[in-house]
Amino acid sequence: MSFEDLQEYIQFSMKNNSLLRIDEEVSPDLELTHILSEEQRTGHGRTVLFSNVKGSGIPVVGNIFSTNEKMNAILGSTPSEIGQRLRNLIRIPDDTESMISRGMEMYRELGGAKPKVHQSFGSDHVAQDTVDLGRYPVCRTWPEDAAPFITLPVVVTRDRETGQRNVGMYRMQVYDSETTGMHWHIHKGGAGHFAESRKSGVPLDVAVVIGTDPLTMFSAVAPLPEGIDEFSFQGIISKKRLDLVKGMTVDLEYPRNAEIVLEGYIDPEETRKEGPFGDHTGYYSLEEEFPVFHIKKVIERKNPVYPTTIVGKLWQEDVIMGKAVERMFLPLIQMQIPEIVDINTMEEAVFHNMVIVSIRKRYPGHAKKVMFAIWGMGQLMFSKIVVVVDSDIDVHDRKAVIWAMSTRIDPDRDVTIIPGTVTDSLDHASSLFNYGSKMGIDATRKDASEGYVRPWPDVLKMTDEIDSLVREKMKKYALE
Ligand SMILES: Cc1cc2nc3c(=O)[nH]c(=O)nc-3n(C[C@H](O)[C@H](O)[C@H](O)COP(=O)(O)O)c2cc1C
Repeated sequence: MSFEDLQEYIQFSMKNNSLLRIDEEVSPDLELTHILSEEQRTGHGRTVLFSNVKGSGIPVVGNIFSTNEKMNAILGSTPSEIGQRLRNLIRIPDDTESMISRGMEMYRELGGAKPKVHQSFGSDHVAQDTVDLGRYPVCRTWPEDAAPFITLPVVVTRDRETGQRNVGMYRMQVYDSETTGMHWHIHKGGAGHFAESRKSGVPLDVAVVIGTDPLTMFSAVAPLPEGIDEFSFQGIISKKRLDLVKGMTVDLEYPRNAEIVLEGYIDPEETRKEGPFGDHTGYYSLEEEFPVFHIKKVIERKNPVYPTTIVGKLWQEDVIMGKAVERMFLPLIQMQIPEIVDINTMEEAVFHNMVIVSIRKRYPGHAKKVMFAIWGMGQLMFSKIVVVVDSDIDVHDRKAVIWAMSTRIDPDRDVTIIPGTVTDSLDHASSLFNYGSKMGIDATRKDASEGYVRPWPDVLKMTDEIDSLVREKMKKYALE
């Protein structure tokens, strides 16, 4: 199933006893998000609805993506099953008959996923007379955060040349009642549209939706290749067309199930200090220059709910989202790098700082070929350290990975450093912002084809015969 809107999801959580409703007054300054954090740290993982937030009449919902079960309910399936579906959708069949039926299937699936655009909202949405961000319960999460930040915004922009839409999730620091920061990293879709607007000198229209059905929020986070529309992606997963509505003051469309919409523009010449902000990495992202979003129009659903999230420590819901992305996109990565058996983007490595990948190794230099393919593929370009292991290693078994890394490498031969390359904007260790180096570790076994002329030792393994004999005996000894 997919949810019509955020409020239906809250009802669903209430019905399946995974909602904590707090009616006591809670402060949006540090307290609210810390309650969300504690709910996750203690493993309860309920979605939390705060009905009485100090300084605002609007309730807040958090921990929307708080468990794998909730993620599956939002997706209507497991991430792996969706990954298989996506792979089947774009797979080319090998005979004419199935080519025709596959073509029909593709037509149905893709045609049925295209968003439906409406001219205006229904009577349940109201355009506000004034712009006043002070109405909203925007939270400050960590003590050294520069200000309150909008943390779950669905940000819509359009490429002026191609008309192609981008939808991404980028945090927004509240500067005053009408302006915020726009923290899209330089490599992201929104930043690409901003770069275009700098070239042309024309301000960039932006629509920000705060609160949609959770699947649309997830689609904004999904690392889709440029040119693939996130709203159509939502439609492919939900098997339903997403209803969009035309902007009132911007040449953009956005989901009709919005709780709150901010329409406005970004001036191509203007940037402002953004941050610090307690980030996914477990550190504060420090101040940097980012574009400024000026809000011209606000539209609100009657009785809206404001969604928020917290990032910064390992147990937050971004871990659930990150793992869902990994499982969903593995089948698509395998289409392009078929020798990949499995991949582990580890949450303790902030996902892309260290990526473990197992391969069916077939030729000399194969591990390096896979590293370079990963560094060249979409947001996997942010992978700081790529470790390649043989297919006998389970990439999710940390001990097995460390064993392979420590017993199968000769550092001088197997560690590759690539200087002067892309880093994620959240990388604090590179000397320059957005520019640093990569490390590839080839932890596969070597043979003479790669200059290893010694015999490779066998891995310890008992014979099957002795193993089953002893297992039987151990059962008997355990009884005595
Ligand atoms: C809660 C949350 C907050 C995020 N904040 C940012 C952000 O501030 N800046 C950014 O560039 N990416 C951020 N991301 C990651 C992007 O949403 C993600 O990379 C997405 O694929 C970007 O879409 P795009 O490729 O269309 O730009 C965030 C992700 C999550 C889950």
